[in-house]
Amino acid sequence: MARKKIALIGSGNIGGTLAHLAAQKELGDVVLFDIAEGVPQGKALDLSQCGPVQGFDSKITGTNDYADIAGADVIIVTAGVPRKPGMSRDDLLGINLKVMKQVGEGIKQNAPDAFVICITNPLDAMVWALREFSGLPHNKIVGMAGVLDSARFATFLAWEFETSVRDVNAFVLGGHGDTMVPVLSYSTVNGIPVGDLAKIKGVDQSRLDEIVDRTRKGGGEIVGLLGTGSAFYAPAASAISMAEAYLGDQKRVLPCAAHLSGEYGVDGLYVGVPAMIGAGGIESVVEIELSDEEKSNLQVSIDAVKELLEACKGIDSSLA
Ligand code: LMR
Repeated sequence: MARKKIALIGSGNIGGTLAHLAAQKELGDVVLFDIAEGVPQGKALDLSQCGPVQGFDSKITGTNDYADIAGADVIIVTAGVPRKPGMSRDDLLGINLKVMKQVGEGIKQNAPDAFVICITNPLDAMVWALREFSGLPHNKIVGMAGVLDSARFATFLAWEFETSVRDVNAFVLGGHGDTMVPVLSYSTVNGIPVGDLAKIKGVDQSRLDEIVDRTRKGGGEIVGLLGTGSAFYAPAASAISMAEAYLGDQKRVLPCAAHLSGEYGVDGLYVGVPAMIGAGGIESVVEIELSDEEKSNLQVSIDAVKELLEACKGIDSSLA
């Protein structure tokens, strides 16, 4: 069987971490692309020299030429600028939209059959724009954030209940902004609803509300601590789990920014929902029952994504 090819667009902190994880897991050969000359080549050389120590054989190359992503099975896009303390993800819209145009055209010309996972912010708008610029089928392009946001929610719940993170299944819907919707009613600790466990453990609703709020602001908390950029370990791990689901036809149901065609009352947007990832890309979107309050919170988040798409159309007339 031919070795798989993983192309990573952007060789910053997330790109480097992605390359390391993909090689360690031997998902395939890795091509690290960046417009900055020398950086992807240098990181690729450094990472290649981990192989003998860590025992992996993935070939890792760095490039500044989109032609080198040709034939990629999976592309993970991190290109663009991260936010700094005091900024919102939406402040990156204008600058990262221009980057998505170049990346989308590069994918269109060189790797139109790839499964593309977008990480660049503001996430839900960037995945939509990348789809427009690349012309890929809607089921072959997806945004990463739901896995990341759910992992943050699960971490905070595990800390609160002093339980292993392995037993926590937490769930976040909606856009990847501060209006995202962590859904307590679908979050469990080994099947026990979090609300029930909270009563058993004497954790009151206001404490759960604090955990929900910390999850919503989880990206900003790390931006504030780092001072120079944003999170990269957990975003990279999240995207790699999605790549593995696609490459291994795992049929995993993961929260991710998938294209909606009527589900959740939304048409033509990418918003975080549970979706099945297998060899067909996004094979289906799972529609879950929500309470009236959860529905109205989700609507606020969807409206925020819609507003960003309108702003994209105002910036780039080819998107109108
Ligand atoms: C995150 O959630 O960590 C990323 O979206 C980066 C950011 O700016 O918060």
